[in-house]
Amino acid sequence: MALQLRVFVPPHPLVKHWLGVARDANTPSSLFRTAMTELGRWLTYEAAREWLPTFDTTITTPLAPCPATFVNPEVPMMIIPILRAGLALMEGAQSVLPLASVYHVGFVRNEETLEATCYLNKLPATLAPETRVLISEPMLATGGTMLAAMADLLERGIQPDNVRVVAIVASPIALQKLAEAYPALTIYAAIIDEGLDENGYIVPGLGDAGDRTFGT
Ligand code: URA
Repeated sequence: MALQLRVFVPPHPLVKHWLGVARDANTPSSLFRTAMTELGRWLTYEAAREWLPTFDTTITTPLAPCPATFVNPEVPMMIIPILRAGLALMEGAQSVLPLASVYHVGFVRNEETLEATCYLNKLPATLAPETRVLISEPMLATGGTMLAAMADLLERGIQPDNVRVVAIVASPIALQKLAEAYPALTIYAAIIDEGLDENGYIVPGLGDAGDRTFGT
């Protein structure tokens, strides 16, 4: 059976609340960072469903033996924040996945061509195929950055069905491109917006996620 791109938009009041805070142009940078942290936390929590490897065992409570399930520490787990805006989701993501290793990858977008160029890549040369990868990228706008990041991960040995993308806002065009290139990918987003403006910004979106996070 062919796998299809899965996009989840959790219908959770906390996701809606923090998305509203993040979108509001009057939200100051300090509160915007809080909103991104909370969105990173709840979307990572949702993304960990059916993705985190577990093992079953038996433990003993103070009263009796009983079955228990734990996160399997033997399966490598990594979070990849796409710099710079991906850093904004990290505190929340790490609060859910404290054992995950963090590997930074940086992309810069050419403002005229909208092409993404990688300027930093801290990933190891090879990765075990069973590695669970969570990519933190708040804005899936043209999809160019995520396509490049996925191509790089696959070259290093990652299986696309072990990858979860945590985004805040996704555009239909980015989702379409990712579905064509990586049908086994799974994406968690707070919202799917209408489209892009002539500068490649998502509308209504939330503006420049990096600028709003870092106050620049
Ligand atoms: N990057 C952003 O930060 N915002 C957008 O709307 C698109 C790309």
